[in-house]
Amino acid sequence: MATAEGSGSDEQGQGVETSVTYYRLEEVAKRNSSEDLWLVIHGRVYDITRFLNEHPGGEEVLQEQAGADASESFEDVGHSTDAREMLKQYYIGDVHPSDLKPESGSKLLGVLDFPHRGCYSLRLPVPLLHVGKQILLRTSG
Ligand code: HEM
Repeated sequence: MATAEGSGSDEQGQGVETSVTYYRLEEVAKRNSSEDLWLVIHGRVYDITRFLNEHPGGEEVLQEQAGADASESFEDVGHSTDAREMLKQYYIGDVHPSDLKPESGSKLLGVLDFPHRGCYSLRLPVPLLHVGKQILLRTSG
């Protein structure tokens, strides 16, 4: 019998929910009318049909992004924490991994790049050590 892990699931049983629905971008793109409007924000898919006429920024801006990736425009506006919290109500699933943009990949590359930069900066003092050694050798000899 499968048992749901109890650890870390203290908030309203969220820890039990493990399955995610994946949507292809092709599917999301079809939901671009005011009767059925989906958006992608940071790799997550939102059905915001019922939110259209409640959006403080107006319907039009949402319709412009209908069926598409609105991450950039969502961030450009500088939405509040409240707005980000609201997103949860409209979340229906994630973008299928094969459709994820290199946007997230480049972040990963950035992270991978970091230790290299660290190594590089560690190499900088080496020539200085050589110079120091030469000076020491000359002064002692
Ligand atoms: C489902 C996604 C979205 C939610 C839940 C949402 C929610 C909100 C909320 C709560 C506000 C009031 C101000 C704030 O609290 O930040 C707001 C304002 C606004 N939003 Fe959105 N929004 C969404 C998507 C978008 C997108 C995709 C755009 C742009 C294309 C956009 C453009 C705006 C604009 C222009 C304002 C008005 C800002 C102002 O008057 O200062 N929103 N939104």
